[in-house]
Amino acid sequence: MTKKRVFALVNQKGGVGKTTTAINLGTGLAAMGKQVLIIDLDPQGNASTGLGVERARRARGAYEVLLGGVPIGQAIAATTIPMLSIVPASVNLAGAEIELVTAERREHRLAEALATLGDRFDAVLIDCPPSLNLLTLNALVAADALLVPLQTEFYALEGLSYLVQTVERVKRAFNPRLELAGIILTMFDRRNSLSEAVSQDVRGHFGDRVFKTVVPRNVRVSEAPSHGLPVLIYDNRCIGAQAYIELAAEFLKRFDGLKQAEGVLVGG
Ligand SMILES: Nc1ncnc2c1ncn2[C@@H]1O[C@H](COP(=O)(O)OP(=O)(O)OP(=O)(O)O)[C@@H](O)[C@H]1O
Ligand SMILES: [Mg+2]
Repeated sequence: MTKKRVFALVNQKGGVGKTTTAINLGTGLAAMGKQVLIIDLDPQGNASTGLGVERARRARGAYEVLLGGVPIGQAIAATTIPMLSIVPASVNLAGAEIELVTAERREHRLAEALATLGDRFDAVLIDCPPSLNLLTLNALVAADALLVPLQTEFYALEGLSYLVQTVERVKRAFNPRLELAGIILTMFDRRNSLSEAVSQDVRGHFGDRVFKTVVPRNVRVSEAPSHGLPVLIYDNRCIGAQAYIELAAEFLKRFDGLKQAEGVLVGG
């Protein structure tokens, strides 16, 4: 297996856990000794807010890297988590999608920026907006692999076949190394038999590509962003935080070049 470093969190469906997974998987990996960079490619800026990057520190962000000629190294902000950095979403990002239409090499801008970072980061997690627009396309062209958070509810699989087709097209046209590396089941509700049914259905279709770890619905997970903290820091004992720690460990086992650090865990 070739080494994978850049992962795009994609699902054109909104509110399925893309941002929550970027923040908390990123925090888990950082806690396990990896240098992690999150790219906030969503004009909503939820990943930036959820990691406590205040507006004043977002003057240079994803927009400036894609369209403002700013070297990516100058748009990386530190977070309160050691080893976890972010390229935040600046206010201008809302206009990027339209400006990109007429830009040269419009699909390759993020890939070219990331290439300049070499191996400074062990993992790059790109948080995408809930659509398959030019911003998401930049993520797909830059990525080695796709991570798809999927909410365990009735319509979960709807839209997934369209996403799979899009990946095939991007693979042919721009990025032959792109792979759907993992589906992450989120907001799983143990008390709801539908959650289990959807989970089995997804595993039936995608087999091993579905992570064994399932993220449960947990109110602590949804509270954490308003404090500008990953749930792993906000309440590391809650079941949501524990799931993300497990997910990070499973992630490290799956991807070559990201060997699991021994004995490092977020304290209890
Ligand atoms: N495991 C969970 N338990 C409870 N709430 C959750 C969980 N995961 C995410 N949420 C909440 O669900 C909402 C949607 O999650 P999130 O923002 O991560 O989704 P998203 O796919 O990034 O959304 P968008 O498409 O708008 O970018 C948020 O309010 C988040 O706090
Ligand atoms: Mg989001």
